[in-house]
Amino acid sequence: MVQPLNMDVLQSLDRNKLPRHIAIIMDGNGRWAKERGHDRVFGHHEGVVSVREIVKCCGEIGIQYLTLYAFSTENWNRPKEEVNALMELLVNTIRKEAEELKKNNVRLHVIGDFDSLPVICQKELNEAMEMTASNTGLNLVLALSYSSKWEITKAVHDIAADTINGKIKLADITDGLFKSYLSTKNFPDPELMIRTSGEHRISNYLLYQLAYAELYFTDVHWPAFRRQQLYEALFDYQQRERRFGKTSEQIQTNTAQHA
Ligand code: IPE
Ligand code: IPE
Ligand code: MG
Repeated sequence: MVQPLNMDVLQSLDRNKLPRHIAIIMDGNGRWAKERGHDRVFGHHEGVVSVREIVKCCGEIGIQYLTLYAFSTENWNRPKEEVNALMELLVNTIRKEAEELKKNNVRLHVIGDFDSLPVICQKELNEAMEMTASNTGLNLVLALSYSSKWEITKAVHDIAADTINGKIKLADITDGLFKSYLSTKNFPDPELMIRTSGEHRISNYLLYQLAYAELYFTDVHWPAFRRQQLYEALFDYQQRERRFGKTSEQIQTNTAQHA
Protein backbone atom coordinates (compact mmCIF):
# COMPACT_ATOMS: atom_id res chain seq x y z
CA MET A 1 0.00 0.00 0.00
CA VAL A 2 1.44 3.35 -1.02
CA GLN A 3 0.95 6.06 1.60
CA PRO A 4 -0.79 9.25 0.41
CA LEU A 5 1.80 11.80 -0.60
CA ASN A 6 2.12 14.81 1.59
CA MET A 7 3.29 17.27 -1.01
CA ASP A 8 4.09 19.86 1.67
CA VAL A 9 7.09 17.91 2.97
CA LEU A 10 8.36 17.16 -0.53
CA GLN A 11 8.03 20.77 -1.55
CA SER A 12 9.77 22.08 1.55
CA LEU A 13 12.85 19.97 0.79
CA ASP A 14 15.88 21.87 -0.47
CA ARG A 15 16.98 19.89 -3.53
CA ASN A 16 20.49 21.34 -3.20
CA LYS A 17 20.89 20.07 0.36
CA LEU A 18 20.09 16.40 -0.09
CA PRO A 19 22.55 13.87 1.34
CA ARG A 20 24.67 12.09 -1.23
CA HIS A 21 24.55 8.89 0.75
CA ILE A 22 21.76 7.56 2.98
CA ALA A 23 22.30 4.46 5.13
CA ILE A 24 19.30 2.67 6.63
CA ILE A 25 18.86 0.06 9.35
CA MET A 26 15.62 -1.54 8.21
CA ASP A 27 14.31 -2.71 11.56
CA GLY A 28 10.93 -3.86 12.91
CA ASN A 29 9.65 -6.31 10.28
CA GLY A 30 8.91 -8.92 12.95
CA ARG A 31 7.12 -6.55 15.32
CA TRP A 32 5.09 -5.08 12.46
CA ALA A 33 3.87 -8.56 11.51
CA LYS A 34 3.21 -9.68 15.11
CA GLU A 35 1.10 -6.56 15.75
CA ARG A 36 -1.08 -7.64 12.83
CA GLY A 37 -1.36 -11.27 13.95
CA HIS A 38 1.04 -12.64 11.33
CA ASP A 39 4.33 -14.49 11.61
CA ARG A 40 7.65 -12.66 11.36
CA VAL A 41 8.33 -13.81 7.80
CA PHE A 42 5.22 -11.98 6.61
CA GLY A 43 6.86 -8.81 7.92
CA HIS A 44 10.00 -9.50 5.90
CA HIS A 45 7.90 -9.85 2.75
CA GLU A 46 6.21 -6.52 3.41
CA GLY A 47 9.63 -5.05 4.13
CA VAL A 48 10.58 -5.80 0.54
CA VAL A 49 7.71 -3.59 -0.62
CA SER A 50 9.24 -0.73 1.37
CA VAL A 51 12.66 -1.44 -0.11
CA ARG A 52 11.21 -1.21 -3.60
CA GLU A 53 9.51 2.11 -2.86
CA ILE A 54 12.48 3.69 -1.09
CA VAL A 55 14.89 2.64 -3.87
CA LYS A 56 12.57 4.14 -6.48
CA CYS A 57 12.11 7.33 -4.50
CA CYS A 58 15.86 7.80 -3.87
CA GLY A 59 16.52 7.34 -7.59
CA GLU A 60 13.88 9.88 -8.49
CA ILE A 61 15.08 12.63 -6.17
CA GLY A 62 18.72 12.12 -7.12
CA ILE A 63 20.29 10.38 -4.10
CA GLN A 64 23.57 8.85 -5.29
CA TYR A 65 24.11 6.10 -2.70
CA LEU A 66 21.66 4.13 -0.59
CA THR A 67 23.05 1.47 1.76
CA LEU A 68 20.51 -0.92 3.26
CA TYR A 69 21.28 -3.17 6.22
CA ALA A 70 19.50 -6.34 5.10
CA PHE A 71 21.23 -9.05 7.16
CA SER A 72 23.87 -8.73 9.88
CA THR A 73 26.49 -11.30 10.85
CA GLU A 74 24.57 -11.60 14.15
CA ASN A 75 21.35 -12.42 12.27
CA TRP A 76 22.83 -15.88 11.48
CA ASN A 77 21.98 -16.68 15.12
CA ARG A 78 18.22 -16.39 14.52
CA PRO A 79 16.08 -19.56 14.30
CA LYS A 80 17.08 -21.63 11.30
CA GLU A 81 13.61 -21.33 9.71
CA GLU A 82 13.78 -17.53 9.77
CA VAL A 83 17.32 -17.46 8.33
CA ASN A 84 16.26 -19.82 5.54
CA ALA A 85 13.15 -17.76 4.81
CA LEU A 86 15.27 -14.58 4.63
CA MET A 87 17.78 -16.17 2.24
CA GLU A 88 14.98 -17.48 0.07
CA LEU A 89 13.34 -14.07 0.04
CA LEU A 90 16.65 -12.50 -0.94
CA VAL A 91 17.12 -14.88 -3.89
CA ASN A 92 13.55 -14.43 -5.12
CA THR A 93 13.62 -10.66 -4.74
CA ILE A 94 16.90 -10.22 -6.61
CA ARG A 95 15.69 -12.55 -9.35
CA LYS A 96 12.42 -10.60 -9.70
CA GLU A 97 13.83 -7.09 -9.37
CA ALA A 98 17.08 -7.23 -11.36
CA GLU A 99 15.41 -6.17 -14.63
CA GLU A 100 13.64 -3.30 -12.89
CA LEU A 101 16.91 -2.12 -11.33
CA LYS A 102 18.55 -2.22 -14.72
CA LYS A 103 15.70 -0.29 -16.31
CA ASN A 104 15.75 2.35 -13.55
CA ASN A 105 19.50 2.96 -13.95
CA VAL A 106 20.23 1.56 -10.46
CA ARG A 107 23.60 -0.11 -9.90
CA LEU A 108 23.68 -2.90 -7.34
CA HIS A 109 26.59 -3.47 -4.93
CA VAL A 110 27.00 -5.82 -1.98
CA ILE A 111 29.09 -5.36 1.17
CA GLY A 112 29.69 -8.01 3.82
CA ASP A 113 31.05 -11.51 4.12
CA PHE A 114 29.91 -12.57 0.63
CA ASP A 115 31.40 -16.08 0.86
CA SER A 116 29.25 -16.87 3.92
CA LEU A 117 26.03 -16.48 1.88
CA PRO A 118 24.42 -19.57 0.34
CA VAL A 119 25.85 -20.27 -3.14
CA ILE A 120 22.49 -19.63 -4.80
CA CYS A 121 22.35 -16.13 -3.21
CA GLN A 122 25.90 -15.42 -4.39
CA LYS A 123 24.96 -16.46 -7.91
CA GLU A 124 21.82 -14.27 -8.10
CA LEU A 125 23.66 -11.31 -6.61
CA ASN A 126 26.62 -11.69 -8.97
CA GLU A 127 24.29 -11.81 -11.94
CA ALA A 128 22.36 -8.73 -10.82
CA MET A 129 25.59 -6.82 -10.10
CA GLU A 130 26.87 -7.68 -13.57
CA MET A 131 23.59 -6.75 -15.21
CA THR A 132 23.57 -3.32 -13.59
CA ALA A 133 27.32 -2.63 -13.68
CA SER A 134 27.10 0.09 -16.32
CA ASN A 135 24.19 1.94 -14.69
CA THR A 136 24.95 5.50 -13.65
CA GLY A 137 22.01 6.46 -11.39
CA LEU A 138 21.48 5.40 -7.80
CA ASN A 139 24.09 3.07 -6.28
CA LEU A 140 22.16 0.58 -4.17
CA VAL A 141 24.45 -1.07 -1.63
CA LEU A 142 23.08 -4.13 0.18
CA ALA A 143 24.80 -4.94 3.48
CA LEU A 144 24.50 -8.72 3.68
CA SER A 145 26.14 -10.88 6.31
CA TYR A 146 27.71 -7.58 7.23
CA SER A 147 29.05 -6.22 10.50
CA SER A 148 31.45 -3.40 11.21
CA LYS A 149 33.57 -5.45 13.59
CA TRP A 150 34.01 -8.07 10.84
CA GLU A 151 34.86 -5.38 8.28
CA ILE A 152 37.31 -3.46 10.49
CA THR A 153 39.04 -6.62 11.70
CA LYS A 154 39.43 -7.79 8.10
CA ALA A 155 40.88 -4.40 7.09
CA VAL A 156 43.43 -4.58 9.93
CA HIS A 157 44.34 -8.12 8.90
CA ASP A 158 44.79 -7.15 5.24
CA ILE A 159 46.84 -4.05 6.11
CA ALA A 160 49.10 -6.13 8.36
CA ALA A 161 49.56 -8.72 5.59
CA ASP A 162 50.42 -6.03 3.02
CA THR A 163 52.87 -4.44 5.47
CA ILE A 164 54.62 -7.77 6.07
CA ASN A 165 54.82 -8.58 2.35
CA GLY A 166 56.23 -5.10 1.63
CA LYS A 167 53.31 -3.79 -0.42
CA ILE A 168 52.89 -0.87 1.99
CA LYS A 169 55.08 0.77 4.64
CA LEU A 170 54.06 1.61 8.21
CA ALA A 171 54.17 5.31 7.32
CA ASP A 172 51.60 4.74 4.55
CA ILE A 173 48.89 3.90 7.07
CA THR A 174 46.63 6.95 7.09
CA ASP A 175 42.87 7.47 7.34
CA GLY A 176 42.75 7.44 3.53
CA LEU A 177 44.65 4.16 3.26
CA PHE A 178 42.54 2.57 5.99
CA LYS A 179 39.35 3.53 4.12
CA SER A 180 40.69 1.87 0.98
CA TYR A 181 40.73 -1.47 2.86
CA LEU A 182 37.06 -1.24 3.84
CA SER A 183 34.29 -2.80 1.76
CA THR A 184 32.86 0.69 1.28
CA LYS A 185 36.06 1.98 -0.35
CA ASN A 186 34.24 3.14 -3.48
CA PHE A 187 31.50 5.03 -1.68
CA PRO A 188 31.48 8.35 0.20
CA ASP A 189 30.55 8.20 3.90
CA PRO A 190 26.80 8.46 4.60
CA GLU A 191 25.62 11.91 5.67
CA LEU A 192 22.36 10.49 7.04
CA MET A 193 21.66 7.24 8.90
CA ILE A 194 18.04 6.25 9.46
CA ARG A 195 16.92 3.51 11.85
CA THR A 196 13.29 2.48 11.94
CA SER A 197 11.28 0.83 14.71
CA GLY A 198 12.31 2.77 17.78
CA GLU A 199 15.66 1.22 18.76
CA HIS A 200 18.37 3.80 19.44
CA ARG A 201 21.43 1.75 18.57
CA ILE A 202 23.79 1.12 15.65
CA SER A 203 23.88 -2.72 15.84
CA ASN A 204 27.36 -3.15 14.33
CA TYR A 205 26.56 -1.05 11.23
CA LEU A 206 29.13 1.13 9.42
CA LEU A 207 30.80 2.20 12.69
CA TYR A 208 33.75 3.82 10.94
CA GLN A 209 31.77 5.35 8.08
CA LEU A 210 29.10 6.90 10.32
CA ALA A 211 31.65 8.97 12.27
CA TYR A 212 29.98 12.24 11.24
CA ALA A 213 26.59 11.07 9.97
CA GLU A 214 23.40 12.66 11.19
CA LEU A 215 21.36 10.01 12.99
CA TYR A 216 17.60 9.83 12.55
CA PHE A 217 15.46 7.47 14.59
CA THR A 218 11.77 6.86 13.98
CA ASP A 219 9.25 4.61 15.73
CA VAL A 220 7.75 3.59 12.38
CA HIS A 221 8.40 -0.08 11.60
CA TRP A 222 10.24 -0.78 8.34
CA PRO A 223 7.23 -2.23 6.42
CA ALA A 224 5.41 1.06 7.13
CA PHE A 225 8.36 3.25 6.14
CA ARG A 226 7.52 4.60 2.71
CA ARG A 227 8.05 7.68 0.54
CA GLN A 228 6.37 10.07 2.97
CA GLN A 229 8.49 8.86 5.92
CA LEU A 230 11.66 9.24 3.84
CA TYR A 231 10.76 12.84 2.99
CA GLU A 232 10.20 13.50 6.70
CA ALA A 233 13.64 12.11 7.53
CA LEU A 234 15.22 14.23 4.81
CA PHE A 235 13.39 17.31 6.05
CA ASP A 236 14.67 16.67 9.58
CA TYR A 237 18.20 16.20 8.23
CA GLN A 238 18.03 19.54 6.44
CA GLN A 239 17.27 21.32 9.72
CA ARG A 240 20.54 20.11 11.30
CA GLU A 241 23.69 22.19 11.50
CA ARG A 242 26.63 19.98 10.58
CA ARG A 243 29.62 21.47 12.39
CA PHE A 244 32.40 18.87 12.02
CA GLY A 245 34.06 20.12 15.20
CA LYS A 246 33.85 23.80 14.30
CA THR A 247 31.72 26.45 16.03
CA SER A 248 28.28 27.45 14.88
CA GLU A 249 29.61 30.96 14.11
CA GLN A 250 32.28 29.56 11.79
CA ILE A 251 29.69 27.51 9.91
CA GLN A 252 27.34 30.47 9.54
CA THR A 253 30.12 32.81 8.29
CA ASN A 254 31.12 30.17 5.77
CA THR A 255 27.54 29.68 4.57
CA ALA A 256 27.06 33.47 4.22
CA GLN A 257 30.28 33.74 2.18
CA HIS A 258 29.17 31.04 -0.20
CA ALA A 259 25.58 32.30 -0.55
C1 IPE B 1 14.57 -6.24 10.41
O1 IPE B 1 13.44 -6.59 11.12
C2 IPE B 1 14.97 -7.28 9.38
C3 IPE B 1 16.18 -8.05 9.70
C4 IPE B 1 16.95 -7.87 10.73
C5 IPE B 1 16.55 -9.11 8.79
P1 IPE B 1 13.53 -7.58 12.36
O2 IPE B 1 13.43 -8.97 11.86
O3 IPE B 1 14.72 -7.28 13.18
O4 IPE B 1 12.20 -7.20 13.15
P2 IPE B 1 12.08 -6.96 14.73
O5 IPE B 1 13.10 -5.95 15.10
O6 IPE B 1 12.30 -8.29 15.39
O7 IPE B 1 10.68 -6.44 14.91
C1 IPE C 1 19.85 -4.85 12.66
O1 IPE C 1 18.61 -5.24 13.12
C2 IPE C 1 20.23 -5.63 11.44
C3 IPE C 1 19.38 -5.41 10.26
C4 IPE C 1 18.43 -4.52 10.12
C5 IPE C 1 19.68 -6.26 9.14
P1 IPE C 1 18.47 -6.29 14.33
O2 IPE C 1 17.03 -6.42 14.62
O3 IPE C 1 19.20 -7.53 14.03
O4 IPE C 1 19.22 -5.51 15.50
P2 IPE C 1 19.25 -5.73 17.08
O5 IPE C 1 19.72 -7.13 17.31
O6 IPE C 1 17.87 -5.53 17.59
O7 IPE C 1 20.19 -4.71 17.59
MG1 MG D 1 15.14 -6.07 14.76
